[in-house]
Amino acid sequence: MAASIGAVACRALHSRRHGKLLSIGRGLFSGARCLVAEGETHFGFQNVSETEKGEKVYHVFESVAKKYDIMNDSMSLGIHRLWKDILVHQMNPYPGTQLLDVAGGTGDIAFRFINYVRSQWEHQIKQKLKSHQNLSWQEISKSYQEEELKLPGGSQVVVCDINKEMLKVGKQKAQHLGYSEGLSWVVGNAEELPFNDNKFDVYTIAFGIRNVTHIDQALQEAYRVLKPGGRFLCLEFSQVNNPLISRLYDLYSFQVIPVLGEIIAGDWKSYQYLVESIRRFPAQVIRCSA
Ligand SMILES: C[S@@+](CC[C@H](N)C(=O)[O-])C[C@H]1O[C@@H](n2cnc3c(N)ncnc32)[C@H](O)[C@@H]1O
Repeated sequence: MAASIGAVACRALHSRRHGKLLSIGRGLFSGARCLVAEGETHFGFQNVSETEKGEKVYHVFESVAKKYDIMNDSMSLGIHRLWKDILVHQMNPYPGTQLLDVAGGTGDIAFRFINYVRSQWEHQIKQKLKSHQNLSWQEISKSYQEEELKLPGGSQVVVCDINKEMLKVGKQKAQHLGYSEGLSWVVGNAEELPFNDNKFDVYTIAFGIRNVTHIDQALQEAYRVLKPGGRFLCLEFSQVNNPLISRLYDLYSFQVIPVLGEIIAGDWKSYQYLVESIRRFPAQVIRCSA
């Protein structure tokens, strides 16, 4: 499997409301819809109405939620973890960063974000301690305790997803792993986010955007909720260009993944949708017209 990360900074775009970001949106949008009639879209290889797509996508994730994490590990041999690590490293958040993770599902990006911010903060504390050798032990332990109660610097991550079942699994995982401070779970549609304008420093969407019916609307919403200078990071499957690897990849995708889906999650169709939806998603090279 192949994945790529797209990142856009809003600073350069902010003076022109319909600038580059929305051109990217149009590029994705037209690529995704060029083979379907007005009011129709695609669900994997099927052409369906736009309403039907939303419902079908909802059912896919409702059905796989409980086995979602184990299926990700099995299908990718754990590689999805590395891709997600790379995304958060590229984000390079600092104590204080406000993150919105859309289509956040079971919280993988949010948990990595929390770990990263904590490690950044610990690094900062060590630096401070080095330069203030005369701090008392009481002062040191007080600063640690204060930051243990909340995320360093008041950082926050909001996991927003349209699917209640995915969020339910995510919340259980958070409880089990001990993540609570600075983390919230919100049911919401990427196309109509329930947040105020200019609220977040970073917007992420990992393996989510290809499931959204109106990608251009989701991008407009990302732009609206990001602060000026905020960043948009998208992790998504990409197309394989090498013909030999591409044949192997197709073989694996169509012959193995649905079988794994049936064995592990008892759900062939949802994993058939997964591989088809990857093929329907626009290729990673996008020409911007702005
Ligand atoms: C493949 S999962 C990705 C989950 C998580 N980001 C990860 O990387 O593990 C796709 C997620 O997108 C969500 N989703 C699909 N359409 C959405 C929409 N319109 N708005 C918000 N979330 C959506 C699904 O419910 C699902 O949780």
